[in-house]
Amino acid sequence: MASKLAPWALRNAARAVRSPARFQQRSFQVSAAVRSDNLNVHRDTPENNASIPFKFNAQNEKLIQEVLSRYPSQYKKAAVMPLLDLGQRQHGFTSISVMNEVARILEMPPMRVYEVATFYTMYNRNPVGKFHVQCCTTTPCQLRGSDGIMKAIEEQLGIHHGQTTDDKLFTLTEVECLGACANAPMVQINDDFYEDLTPETTKSLLSALKDAAQKTGAGGMAPGLVGTQEDVEAREVDGKKLKLGGPGYAAKGAAIPAPGPLSKRESCEPMTGLTSLTGPKWTAESTLRKDGQL
Ligand code: FES
Repeated sequence: MASKLAPWALRNAARAVRSPARFQQRSFQVSAAVRSDNLNVHRDTPENNASIPFKFNAQNEKLIQEVLSRYPSQYKKAAVMPLLDLGQRQHGFTSISVMNEVARILEMPPMRVYEVATFYTMYNRNPVGKFHVQCCTTTPCQLRGSDGIMKAIEEQLGIHHGQTTDDKLFTLTEVECLGACANAPMVQINDDFYEDLTPETTKSLLSALKDAAQKTGAGGMAPGLVGTQEDVEAREVDGKKLKLGGPGYAAKGAAIPAPGPLSKRESCEPMTGLTSLTGPKWTAESTLRKDGQL
């Protein structure tokens, strides 16, 4: 055995002397450090700490029962997202007390609720203004001018990403794609999408919202989105029922444009008019043979 191993050992010893072990260096990448004030951790503040009591109001209690009835009782924790949403609508943001109350109702460990609330950016874990302006800056919006929209908002409101105006009316957040790329550039303000924006229409939209908030007290999220549109509580302005999150309105000298494209488009049809499906509409009759054959 030793005689068989000797040539192998000699060969490898010689090779080791000729080529000393090379230092292996591998390049590797790390993500850029996140320098955001929107941390995934909770820090107690005077307006957001666990000693501030939170309870759902009677209207939301009813909505919670409806949501829970959609799930088998052993899976009621599946309702964590709609309940967090209701809590945010009632309280104005998803505070630690809202999360704890949701955990109590759903009999979940609070950490499981924190995990959901910190993962989804739609849960605001810090107070936001009456109008939460979320400006999309992902590629399709950027190619159609979202940089100019961000600039227009910053100029109009005097705030930057993550900041709230002193009068607590507006919070500006820069966000990723909101799914309305066909009508880029766009912003989401509370529950509404405003699309096909230009810097000018953006500025006049913001001043219309400010004007309406001052004259009518409008603003804020619709109180609950569960159930039909009719279930959504309406607010009364000038004796008229005003549905938040609905079409634009005019009251007390203030006018808010209806959500959707602020251009001549009604939806996401081509700007230059139809380019396809321009022939006569097909109906049940047009598919039948005229010669009597089947
Ligand atoms: S990229 Fe802005 S909505 Fe999709």
